[in-house]
Amino acid sequence: MVHVLFVCLGNICRSPMAEAVFKHLVAKEKLEASIRVDSAATSGWHIGAPPHPGTIAKLKEYDISTEGISGRQLQKEDFEEFDYIVGMDENNIKDIRQMLGQPDHPKIIRFLDWTEHKKDVPDPYFTGDFQETYDLVLEGCDALLGKVKLDYKEQL
Ligand code: 4NP
Repeated sequence: MVHVLFVCLGNICRSPMAEAVFKHLVAKEKLEASIRVDSAATSGWHIGAPPHPGTIAKLKEYDISTEGISGRQLQKEDFEEFDYIVGMDENNIKDIRQMLGQPDHPKIIRFLDWTEHKKDVPDPYFTGDFQETYDLVLEGCDALLGKVKLDYKEQL
């Protein structure tokens, strides 16, 4: 089993979007039994909350479910449990490293670094542009799933 965790600031916009899209791609490839997907926040602001209405609405347009997704905060144990801890932007990466006490571990990666963009995912909580975020999230999830399949090609 491979464990993938997406992390952003609030865990209501970008990381739950990535969780839902990645789960959708994993299901399309019939890998649900082999890849576990989750998301978390660096902040404690939206614990137990559903995704942002903008995230839910955008995913609905593409027939992607957000069922069962609710906000939680990153915790120390996540470092042991997950094989990929994927920050949506550079600030998330800094916070993840600090919270997990891991200044330089290769399993902590920035989401879009596996695409040609190699940049932060814009936060639609501030930009209001959920389409821009969705397009990047789809591209990032596709690239990351390709990486996971390569990294674990013996097991998957
Ligand atoms: P996210 O966006 O990190 O993509 O979930 C945000 C959600 C909430 C807040 C900031 C960013 N907030 O300030 O409550």
